[in-house]
Amino acid sequence: MRVMTGKEQGAPTEEVFPKLTRDVIDRMSSAKSGRLQEVMEIVIRHLHAIVREAKITQGEWWQAIDFLTRAGKMCSESRQELILLSDILGVSMLVDAVDNVAGPGISDSTVLGPFYAGHQRELAQGDSILLREEPSEPLVMSGRVADPEGQPVGDALIEVWQTAPNQLYDVQDRDQPQGHLRASFRTDMAGTYRFRTIMPVSYPIPDDGPAGQLLAAMGRHPFRPAHIHFMISAPGYRTLVTHLFFEGDEFLESDAVFGVKPSLVVRPELKGGINTVEYTFGLARELRPGSARPPSFVAANNRSNPSDR
Ligand code: BEZ
Ligand code: FE
Repeated sequence: MRVMTGKEQGAPTEEVFPKLTRDVIDRMSSAKSGRLQEVMEIVIRHLHAIVREAKITQGEWWQAIDFLTRAGKMCSESRQELILLSDILGVSMLVDAVDNVAGPGISDSTVLGPFYAGHQRELAQGDSILLREEPSEPLVMSGRVADPEGQPVGDALIEVWQTAPNQLYDVQDRDQPQGHLRASFRTDMAGTYRFRTIMPVSYPIPDDGPAGQLLAAMGRHPFRPAHIHFMISAPGYRTLVTHLFFEGDEFLESDAVFGVKPSLVVRPELKGGINTVEYTFGLARELRPGSARPPSFVAANNRSNPSDR
C-alpha cells in the first residue's frame, strides 16, 4: 500500500513548520550559555521564517551554501570577505547602532572595515603619515580628544589609516611601502592632536569575490566616499572607531557599506593655502570594561604589529 505524504493527507503545513522550529529550539535546553541559547533561538526563528516566507527551493539553498563556502574560502590574513558581506548588507552598521553609546559630547562611530592593520609606528605631533611622495593635495588634520563634558583626554592613542590616490591601502598594494598612509599619535595633556596627510579619494571596496558578485547582482556599485579612518582609545573610555568624510563627495549618499553619518562629514578650510580640518572627537566613558575593540580577528590580521617583528 502506498504511504500518503503529509501534503496528500492535507496536513496543516502552518502547524508542521512551527513544530520543526520549536523542536530545534527545544534541543538547546542544555546549552552551556544562557546568552548563546537566547541568541540562537532568535537566529533559528528568523532563519526558519526566511525559508518559509521566501519559499526557498532546494536549488536556491545549494546556491546559498555554495556562496557562503566561496566567501569563507576567500578569507586569508589580508582578505576578510565575511566583514565585506556584513558591511554591504548593512549588518555592521546595525551592530554599530545597537552596541554603541551616543549622546551629547560623544562622537559618532562607524564601520571598522577590513583594512585596519594593527598598531603602527607612533609619530610626533605634526608629522606626516606618508612614507613616499604622492601627487595629491596636502591636508592638515588637527583637533582635540575630549570626554563627554568636553574636558581634554591626554595620552589618548589615535590610530589613522587611509588609501593612496590609486584607491588602494598599503596592505592591498605591493608597490606601496608597508605602513604608508597609516600611523598612530598620542594626544598631549591638552588633548590635542595634529598630523599631515593628503586629501583621500573615494574607492571601490574589494569586489572581485562573492561579496562583489552579490553587490552586482543586487544592482549596486561598490564605492565608498573618500574618508580617513580613526581609532581612538584611552583607559577608562570606549574605543571610538570612526571615519571623517569630505563634503561634496559624490558617494556620500550611496556609500556601499552605509557608513556615512552627517556629524562625520567635514569641510576643509584653506589655511596658509593648505586644506585644513579641525575636528574634536568625544569619547564615551567605558561602563563595561573588557568590551573594547578591536576584536581578535583584527589582531590576527595585524601584519605590522611591532611585537610580530
Ligand atoms: C574601509 O573603509 O576600509 C572599508 C569598509 C568596509 C568595507 C571595505 C572597506
Ligand atoms: Fe576605508
